[in-house]
Amino acid sequence: MSTAKSDNSRPEKVTTRTVVDMKEKGEKISMLTAYDYTMARLVDSGGVDVILVGDSAGNVMAGYETTLPMNMDQMMYHTSCVVRGVERALVVADLPFMSYQVTTKEALINAGKMMKETGAHAVKLEGGKPVVDTVKQIVNAGIPVMGHLGLTPQSIYKFGTYKVRATQDDEAEELLKDARRLEKAGCFAIVLEKIPTKLAKQVTEELSIPTIGIGAGDACDGQVLVLHDMLGLNKDFHPRFIRRYADLQESITDAVGNYVKDVKSLDFPSKKEQYDQ
Ligand code: KIV
Repeated sequence: MSTAKSDNSRPEKVTTRTVVDMKEKGEKISMLTAYDYTMARLVDSGGVDVILVGDSAGNVMAGYETTLPMNMDQMMYHTSCVVRGVERALVVADLPFMSYQVTTKEALINAGKMMKETGAHAVKLEGGKPVVDTVKQIVNAGIPVMGHLGLTPQSIYKFGTYKVRATQDDEAEELLKDARRLEKAGCFAIVLEKIPTKLAKQVTEELSIPTIGIGAGDACDGQVLVLHDMLGLNKDFHPRFIRRYADLQESITDAVGNYVKDVKSLDFPSKKEQYDQ
């Protein structure tokens, strides 16, 4: 883990340069999502390299079935909360559905707004060839861009399924071309979601920028998981690529159950937990 201290003994901040260098050094990159101040503080203290304010906020924070309903105001709110909780990690903010697909000008305005008004360090957007010119423009404006290929959730209605992508040769070849296009356009990293390990390995070996996988196998330069999934906050969702590091669903329901029991039985508050004068 890159936690070198700077002179004033604060951990050295992770930058887009740091993650590219990590690939060069063969050091794996850890990325997790966060959507609020408290969780961002905890995730940052845990030493994660990159925090993604994913539009998966639409699923895990807002309860939508897909990420499509998320808008700029919502993503900017979540991103500012996260930025306030982070000391070390690189904070990447997802640009929501339809904030960058209509025109390059609109994409540039929205990427700029995200950076200026939230303090994010980079933006992420989904797709290959159709967004390449937009990526170039955003990068030219000085805004770092993370790409996202494979199962891109904003296109779920086009795919019609959450199954593994690019299992057929034609889609795999196109994905590889898209990865090259995004690198050439100036992306500093690319998320590869739910694609075969062999293809992710090929992309990772070809590119000089890092790949960060979710359900894309062990050859990627880094890994990302949705925080709520890895903390076991939503046990109804269990695709094979999730590893659970905690069972917070049970811890929280147990804690709430105990609180309810204590209130009903007059056990809480006790004498020590109240002001008698
Ligand atoms: O929105 C998100 O959380 C993401 C990750 C799954 C990569 O895009």
